[in-house]
Amino acid sequence: MFMTEEGFKVTPWEVKGRIDYDKLIKQFGIEPLNNKILTRLKKHTKDLHYLIRRNIIFAHRDLDWLLNEYEKRNKFYLYTGRGPSGHTHLGHLIPWMFTKWLQDKFDVKLLFQITDDEKFMFKEKLSLEDAKKFSYENILDVIAVGFDPKKTKIFLDTEYSKTLYPQAIRVAKHITFSTTKAVFGFSNESNIGQIFFTSVQAVPAFLESVFQGRNVPCLIPLGVDQDPHFRVARDVLPKLGYYKPAIIHSKLMPGLTGNGKMSASDPNSTIFTTDSPEVIERKIKNAFTGQQATIELQKKLGGNPDICSVCQYYKFFFEQDDKKLEGIFEGERSGKLLAGEHKEDLAERAIKFFEEHQKKREKAKDQIEKFMLRD
Ligand code: TRP
Repeated sequence: MFMTEEGFKVTPWEVKGRIDYDKLIKQFGIEPLNNKILTRLKKHTKDLHYLIRRNIIFAHRDLDWLLNEYEKRNKFYLYTGRGPSGHTHLGHLIPWMFTKWLQDKFDVKLLFQITDDEKFMFKEKLSLEDAKKFSYENILDVIAVGFDPKKTKIFLDTEYSKTLYPQAIRVAKHITFSTTKAVFGFSNESNIGQIFFTSVQAVPAFLESVFQGRNVPCLIPLGVDQDPHFRVARDVLPKLGYYKPAIIHSKLMPGLTGNGKMSASDPNSTIFTTDSPEVIERKIKNAFTGQQATIELQKKLGGNPDICSVCQYYKFFFEQDDKKLEGIFEGERSGKLLAGEHKEDLAERAIKFFEEHQKKREKAKDQIEKFMLRD
């Protein structure tokens, strides 16, 4: 599972190399979203989100089962989360926006877990205080995405432990050290908090069933790097008498600098929701386009939208109209669209989007308690 012969590696804590998603589907044992399941989904949602149309939301586990239950009026709830290692960036907002779309389309409840415990245990330099500070910063972004306060509950692991801990140990009792080694690549030198942690992330996948005292189906939208946690949880939950959660996977947003996933540890590879217009402009101006060495060559040979990070930014978020996106890609391929103009257009859109987002983020400041789950 940790093979690097494939030239890439995907675990919840490390993503390396250029991911081959077809191979990843086989490695992880997940199902591609084929036309049959999409047609079925569309019966309920009427349209398909642009991330689905572009195969960015690309795989699932047990979505057919979830829809069977839904059609039998056994409604599901949504569960997703955030590890507060720093400020929120665009790569985080996109799956949250998709989650909101699901919430609106199916009119369902969402549990949102903030794993401050996880980030404290996995990031050598992060103090518990800073993990908490970033948790509340990140919560502003979650609220700014527009989730329905009546149907959305957010909690921090360290603050909600009276409820979470007894459930986490029920899970932990069914997981061996050797399983966590095989699934996550831990070793004898890993700290014991890390080894335990997956049982905490499993809890919200059945917590609604605990609350309601009956089994409630759960759908987890996530970045595919988080799937290993739920591979383990799906083995354990039936032993506790709960359903296996269904999962819908998204690809990881590529970074602006042209290597791999966006990452908070390389601040130039992504745009944070707290960045100023000047910083946004600078980051986009320095983005990797993979265009030819000179303007003349670019006009003659054209570029490759699949490796151009500006094109990928449009695809993942900034151009949601498929025809217009194709126009941009064609401009890149034909060599008509030169890097300078290409970047200026994107910077303009990005600055506008983040200005709006920051206003919503400000307004979220006095709404936090409406969303928090406390015990
Ligand atoms: N571990 C995730 C992260 O580091 C946060 C998280 C917790 C999560 N529960 C989740 C993500 C459920 C997706 C689905 O970002």
